[in-house]
Amino acid sequence: MENIVNSFIAHAMKKNPSRNVHLKKGPSKLLEIINSSIVVDQRMYKEDIEGSIAHAKMLGKQKIITKKEEAKIVNGLKIILNNINKRKVRFKKELEDIHMNIESMLFQQIGATAGKLHTARSRNDQVVTDFKMWIKNNSVSLDKHLKKLQKCLINIAKKHTLTIMPGYTHLQVAQPISLAHYCLAYVEMIGRDRLRLKNCIDILNENPLGAGALAGTSFPIDRNYTSKLLNFNKPTVNALDSVSDRDFAVEFLFVLSLISIHLSRMADEIILWANQQFNFVKLPDELATGSSIMPQKKNPDGAELVRGNAGNVIGNLNALLVILKGLPLAYSKDLQDDKKIIFSSYDNICLALDVMTEMWSGITFNTNVMAESVQNSNATATDFANWLVQHLKFSFREAYKLTGKIVAYADKKNKKLHQLELKELQKFNKKINNDAKKTFSVNESVNNKKSFGGTSPQSVKQTIKYAIKKYL
Ligand code: ARG
Repeated sequence: MENIVNSFIAHAMKKNPSRNVHLKKGPSKLLEIINSSIVVDQRMYKEDIEGSIAHAKMLGKQKIITKKEEAKIVNGLKIILNNINKRKVRFKKELEDIHMNIESMLFQQIGATAGKLHTARSRNDQVVTDFKMWIKNNSVSLDKHLKKLQKCLINIAKKHTLTIMPGYTHLQVAQPISLAHYCLAYVEMIGRDRLRLKNCIDILNENPLGAGALAGTSFPIDRNYTSKLLNFNKPTVNALDSVSDRDFAVEFLFVLSLISIHLSRMADEIILWANQQFNFVKLPDELATGSSIMPQKKNPDGAELVRGNAGNVIGNLNALLVILKGLPLAYSKDLQDDKKIIFSSYDNICLALDVMTEMWSGITFNTNVMAESVQNSNATATDFANWLVQHLKFSFREAYKLTGKIVAYADKKNKKLHQLELKELQKFNKKINNDAKKTFSVNESVNNKKSFGGTSPQSVKQTIKYAIKKYL
């Protein structure tokens, strides 16, 4: 008799373990459609099964279920994991989400004992545990993507400590810098992104499993044990907060958004540099497209798409913030959309990082054009002013003024600073000598920026050493 009852329960549970008998009618087609998240959250199947195995082990250890039941559940879950890995299963939309799908598969696999797994657990603590685990797991590969781009930029920097290019402020030529100096700026940005990612993971590293629906549970569970099994630092402190908290997801989205901003700025510069008027770089053919009408065109689509994608990623951050705003404690179904948002931002960023890495690896630099464009921009005016301070004891403001006058004079004569004769310069101050004239050289200018973090080959080489040690 017991067996018949058990198999009856098992059969019903396979259909939908969470459909409560007090709901006389099944969900309408429309509710089924809007409610179902399996297409999205099946990406968390490994985390869901790992979480369930830890939960079952804890229930067994605490004698809430027998050791035999524990073993049966754990085995069943491992078989399901294997089946999903081998793509032997078909997820069902009518079972809503990954949690119900796996529970239903467990019923199919081991019968009524499957019904014991959800003791002292709710989908509310289950989903947030899975979600945190997913972010933790995938942050490892995100970090690898970031590191790969850093490595690629450091390699370019190594080769180009002597390649001179214009440095800009207001997108006006400001001072000469080396290409290495430019690349290392992004290495630092990405370094901070990696640190931010690590901080985000450190903060989210508390285990919500065992919070139940919102109030905790009357079963004698051991949350430290599941925390250990699932590699969390410790259990979360407040059950109500545990199930309603999505701060960690917002923070992760912010980290992704800032990465997208960095990539977008970088992409924008590549687009500019590839423009005919700049002509600083030649893009790899594989990452450019032609036009359907203009045969000569080579468009920087790869970079443009990375720049555009940042809009989606930032939009996603905003979307989750707006979903959370005004949401009463604890769980509401609004929260179900968090995963779609995170997965899409994560995929976007991984792709964008790969595209940028490929772009930098294949790009060629027109180093002569870069050097010429800085040579012809009076970008060393500040160096000349500095010389006046260092050798003629001018105050910086006096030197700045005098240099300004010389620039105006050169403009009037249709000359660049380095084209002025010594005689012409001495009209402004007799003590100006050939040494002063040397400051107009862009190479001199770069060589002299020896301050910590500066653009001289000497400083840049130090920065490269530091970056390799810190980041690679
Ligand atoms: N699929 C749901 C989600 O992703 C799981 C949590 C369901 N909880 C509930 N009380 N209905 O948010």
